Amino acid sequence: MREIGIGLLGLGVVGGGLVRLLRENGEFLSRKTGIRLQVRRVLVRDPAKPRAVSVPREILTTDFEEILSDPAIHIVCELMGGLEPAHTYILRALEAGKYVVTANKAVLSTYGPEIFAAAEAAGSGLFFEAAVGGGVPIVKALRESLSANRIRRLTAIVNGTCNYILTRMTEEEMPLSEALREAQARGLAEADPTLDLTGADSAHKLAILATLAYGGFLSADQVYTEGIQDLEPLDIRFAREFGFVPKLLALGREEGGRVEVRVHPTLVPETHVLASVRE
Ligand SMILES: NC(=O)c1ccc[n+]([C@@H]2O[C@H](COP(=O)([O-])OP(=O)(O)OC[C@H]3O[C@@H](n4cnc5c(N)ncnc54)[C@H](OP(=O)(O)O)[C@@H]3O)[C@@H](O)[C@H]2O)c1
Repeated sequence: MREIGIGLLGLGVVGGGLVRLLRENGEFLSRKTGIRLQVRRVLVRDPAKPRAVSVPREILTTDFEEILSDPAIHIVCELMGGLEPAHTYILRALEAGKYVVTANKAVLSTYGPEIFAAAEAAGSGLFFEAAVGGGVPIVKALRESLSANRIRRLTAIVNGTCNYILTRMTEEEMPLSEALREAQARGLAEADPTLDLTGADSAHKLAILATLAYGGFLSADQVYTEGIQDLEPLDIRFAREFGFVPKLLALGREEGGRVEVRVHPTLVPETHVLASVRE
């Protein structure tokens, strides 16, 4: 059976989840595709750190060059997050002719043109479905199936943490701080929720979606961004009295060749399909 080698950058929430899924579903995937996926090396900061998903010590490394120079590694999965060194490693992997998969919306919404050009020049593939709306999935649909369509409007809930918090604030009349603590206890929000609450994470994702939908390149700092951090239970009570629920929406609109991109709390009519997206 053909074997495809994977070099994993990061073994945190997403990297660990990938290793677990490959373990659980590896046989099934091999039967279906005729390919065996093999994680050959995993880059981390601290190999001694205890982890929820463990891998053999000998495949852990702190040296990216070991991944780059291994000819049996065909796919590099960048699941480290942050801008650097993720940006440099993605470019170097593409230049080395490796396929790159990344879940990193921050890096794509900042260095998109450089990374897309490098993927094209190298003739290798760049895949990033997990970076935005991975559960839908929307990236492949926009890149391929809908590529010939003129998309006038994008309206999306792209941040699960904020949506969970707003749902709890709406349904249980909780203050934001309590809903946030609950989301953190359930593993739905990170210890530092700043990127989520300020709307920055949604802006990263909208920049990627808008780039795919409208062409050209839209960076995250071109997105007008307001978060949910200042919402109070009273705002939500008033909204409900008028038949609305608050949602943090990512909105894109094209008109007359101009594109508008915004992220902000929005009052959505209770009857709108997005109002029923609860978690
Ligand atoms: N968490 C989610 O639900 C989610 C969903 C979709 C997309 N994403 C995206 O997925 C990516 C990863 O997120 P995550 O939540 O899995 O992050 P995480 O839990 O913080 O894990 C990051 C991993 O990368 C490693 N790492 C970070 N910087 C490194 C460096 N300079 N050199 C070597 N290793 C380094 C860390 O090593 P150590 O373990 O040794 O510290 C850790 O294993 C991010 O781009 C995020 O935006 C996350």
